[in-house]
Amino acid sequence: MGRNNGRLQDKVAIVTGAGKGIGAACAKRFAEEGATVLVAEISAELGQSVVAEIEAAGGAARFQQADVTIERDIIAMIGAAITHYGKLDILWNNAGGSAKGSDPGPTELERLTAEEWDFTHALNLRSVFLGLKYAVPVMRKAGGGVVLCTSSDAGLKGSSGLYHYNAMKAGLNRLVQSYAQTIGRDNIRLNAIAPGFTMTDAMRGNLPPGTDETIMTITQPLPRAGLPLDIANAGLFLASDEGSFITGITLPVDGGWWAQVPQGERFTLAVAEAMAKNPQAAEASRSSFVKD
Ligand SMILES: NC(=O)c1ccc[n+]([C@@H]2O[C@H](COP(=O)([O-])OP(=O)(O)OC[C@H]3O[C@@H](n4cnc5c(N)ncnc54)[C@H](O)[C@@H]3O)[C@@H](O)[C@H]2O)c1
Repeated sequence: MGRNNGRLQDKVAIVTGAGKGIGAACAKRFAEEGATVLVAEISAELGQSVVAEIEAAGGAARFQQADVTIERDIIAMIGAAITHYGKLDILWNNAGGSAKGSDPGPTELERLTAEEWDFTHALNLRSVFLGLKYAVPVMRKAGGGVVLCTSSDAGLKGSSGLYHYNAMKAGLNRLVQSYAQTIGRDNIRLNAIAPGFTMTDAMRGNLPPGTDETIMTITQPLPRAGLPLDIANAGLFLASDEGSFITGITLPVDGGWWAQVPQGERFTLAVAEAMAKNPQAAEASRSSFVKD
């Protein structure tokens, strides 16, 4: 890690939700390419363990406790980059999910509470607004920068049961598209990545009952599960100078899932087949959607 002439050599980057899953992979990949990474994470235990891993591999990182739903934590996070490193080149707004966890899992709309809706907004969309609000002035003053956001395939098309999450990720995509137009003049690029099914703890816990990650081999054009490293590599490209003419996009990184028409048909069939083999799990799933 931290080798000379890396693709992010001498850059200072913040990655939110970097304690595990996609965020941890991004923090480690950026550090491998020479960036100094502020690991911004709600859990001190998780955040510090990622910092330790980066340092053990020869990279540079620092833990910053931050809950992205709290405005003062975001202000402190941006301030910490300036205090400790004197600049901020890259901000990756990665933390997201819902009150049920990073992968929200299906929820019937009428059972969704207003509080869950508001929390999902705070975590996925308001957090990105606040990250931009406080990072952009710093980057503008320095002559430029890059902001990345972790969106989701769920923000590109509709899917039943994920209404709050889908709505926030779709809002994120439009915010990226809109604000990129303004801050391009400040030499600041703003892009989102939309992961498909990516094998993290959150995802594993929310696979349809009776299935495991092998379901990805039949539901996506590219027959393997997505990995956090796939998202990290896409982010590395967008954050590096190789992506210097790209702004305002949401890039699907999903094994071709989003490109399928009609969306989700193969997934639905695969789930039906899996459930036919496991009636108990099928009943558990049915009762979470269907009212008696
Ligand atoms: N895994 C997938 O299949 C998938 C697909 C599409 C989009 N995403 C998105 O990717 C991002 C990361 O998801 P993941 O699967 O890696 O999740 P994960 O649960 O594996 O990791 C999430 C990390 O964020 C931290 N975190 C949670 N709430 C936080 C908060 N308020 N402030 C700061 N940190 C917080 C957690 O402690 C954890 O370390 C999310 O935005 C999610 O919506 C994931």
